Amino acid sequence: MTSAPFDWIDEQARARERAGLVRGLRPRPAETTLLDLAGNDYLGLTRHPEVTAGAAAAARRWGGGATGSRLVTGSTELHAELERELAAFCGFESALVLSSGYAANLAAVTALAPHGSLIVSDAGNHASLIDGCRLARGTTQVVPHADPAAARKALGTHEGPAIAVTDSVFSVDGDAAPLAELAAVCRESGAGLVLDDAHGLGVLGAGGRGAAHAAGLAGAPDTVVTVTLSKSLGSQGGAVLGPARVIDHLVNTARTFIFDTGLAPASAGAALAALRLLCREPERAARAREVATRLYELLVGEGFSAVRPDAAVVSVRAPSPGAAVHWAADCRSAGLAVGCFRPPSVPDGVSRLRLTARADLSDTQLAEVVAVISRTAP
Ligand SMILES: Cc1ncc(COP(=O)(O)O)c(C=O)c1O
Repeated sequence: MTSAPFDWIDEQARARERAGLVRGLRPRPAETTLLDLAGNDYLGLTRHPEVTAGAAAAARRWGGGATGSRLVTGSTELHAELERELAAFCGFESALVLSSGYAANLAAVTALAPHGSLIVSDAGNHASLIDGCRLARGTTQVVPHADPAAARKALGTHEGPAIAVTDSVFSVDGDAAPLAELAAVCRESGAGLVLDDAHGLGVLGAGGRGAAHAAGLAGAPDTVVTVTLSKSLGSQGGAVLGPARVIDHLVNTARTFIFDTGLAPASAGAALAALRLLCREPERAARAREVATRLYELLVGEGFSAVRPDAAVVSVRAPSPGAAVHWAADCRSAGLAVGCFRPPSVPDGVSRLRLTARADLSDTQLAEVVAVISRTAP
């Protein structure tokens, strides 16, 4: 008997169902009383009046979309302003904004890993770095998580161009990469370092200048940083920061820049407004870190197994994928939105709730969060 073309999809769906791994969309209303610790709006800026006004003004001036690749339809003054100010803020010579952090990671990794090169990639890296490695022409060697000695060993055997790629703050557990050690290893072996600072920008470093800045790597000729505009900066989009020659190289070779419509003006306007706000109110970064530490201490005080946060992500272990799903659903019913990580986002056996510590959370709200987590615990 011949089967219909997509029958295998139903088999996969049944397997997901059996494993308790079904994902689905649910509606998100514009107004809600839910306390949101699921999003990545670390500084509480996404609905800030200056940020939404920045988006609206940019859309009115430049239109609802960028109209095409910036190489085809031209590059606006708004994009140039955002790139200049972002590079200056983080301490890099140059920046290039792209339509997402995902696109920025694909751009950086593929453009910097030509045929014959080696990519040394941390086992805990974000999916977008992993996909960058998959698309790159170079060979990837995955090394154990946060292990500079393993990176040294991998780089030591290679002749030709090489890069090490890592998240600065790992998105699931919220732990930081050993950047200083990794940078030293890269320098010893003449490799470049590509660092995804999606969760560091706006949270780590002086006034939120990011993990590279905090580690003394800002502006280094051998360091390239990718960021997203969709977390601390409350907007959407991504950027690559680094030496001007690397950015020029990306403009000429990065397919997710060349063949993708430029960042939407509204997103560029919102990100620029958020960046200016952060420059004026640098204490927001320290507050996000403080809230994370407080949340962690309260959770551990209640007996939960949590990972000490290095930035603003707080991760709490759940006994199983199914338990994590129910726990998150019960939190939601009790008015608290939390993230739920289970396979394939994390390996089997380490499902967890993921809470994001926002700078604008009050101590009363934190106490409420911990009360709900405790009340609903499996
Ligand atoms: C570590 C990391 N890198 C990259 C991305 C992708 O950024 P974007 O959502 O802007 O595509 C994310 C999350 O979304 C992330 O957590």
